[in-house]
Amino acid sequence: MQIIKTTDYQELSSIAAQMVASQIRGKPNSVLGLATGSTPLGLYSQLTDMHREAGLDFSQVVTFNLDEYYPIAPSDPASYSCYMEKNFFQHVNVQRSRCHLPNGAAADVQQACRDYEEEIDRAGGIDLQILGIGANGHIGFNEPSERLQIATHLVPLTEATRMANSRFFASLDAVPRQAISVGMAAIFRARQILLLASGESKGEAVRETVSGVITTRIPATLLQVHPNATLIFDAATISF
Ligand code: GLP
Repeated sequence: MQIIKTTDYQELSSIAAQMVASQIRGKPNSVLGLATGSTPLGLYSQLTDMHREAGLDFSQVVTFNLDEYYPIAPSDPASYSCYMEKNFFQHVNVQRSRCHLPNGAAADVQQACRDYEEEIDRAGGIDLQILGIGANGHIGFNEPSERLQIATHLVPLTEATRMANSRFFASLDAVPRQAISVGMAAIFRARQILLLASGESKGEAVRETVSGVITTRIPATLLQVHPNATLIFDAATISF
């Protein structure tokens, strides 16, 4: 795993944006795996600037988001669908027909999971996967567990994750108890992975990811064996 330590969040976002931009310039129809949460906001903002100021072209880019709450309406302001629209899609020239998120409103959620997995396969897999990390080491919504799921699946959220994400909802009670998450296979088949971590609350998870024992109890530790993974974290995360 390549490790890049930055002085601050701004630099972290800027290095990540350069990497994504270089992927898109080299392959305009790149398939990007996208993440939500606070961490990639700076990346999306910098990519928006690159689009506006330097003409970075997203017109052929295909995107697959890692996860979505379940159940949730795509129009719910706390949905990842709304997050992506508000923080990224509406600011660049992506074609909405090429942007995919798991369907948080699906009546048949198991079928929706199978469909999502097939769509990723049909697109040829992910070229560049952006990942954040949960304080408990989750990636996407692949929560710490004895066994991790291979394919896109419905997952019960841990109380720690619901608590951490309650800041996006009116109350803790309003946070859905489940989510649809891409599984470990689609993440690990990504040709390149970019894991972003910022702030002290991620310190322990980052330390384990870099040098801990590989364990499904801290899903991000598995990234140690990916052939082309880069971790970017800022000085506030951990000092080493
Ligand atoms: C959520 C998302 C993850 C994200 C994580 C960290 O649970 N499902 O994909 O990486 O939170 O979020 P944040 O960047 O807000 O700390």
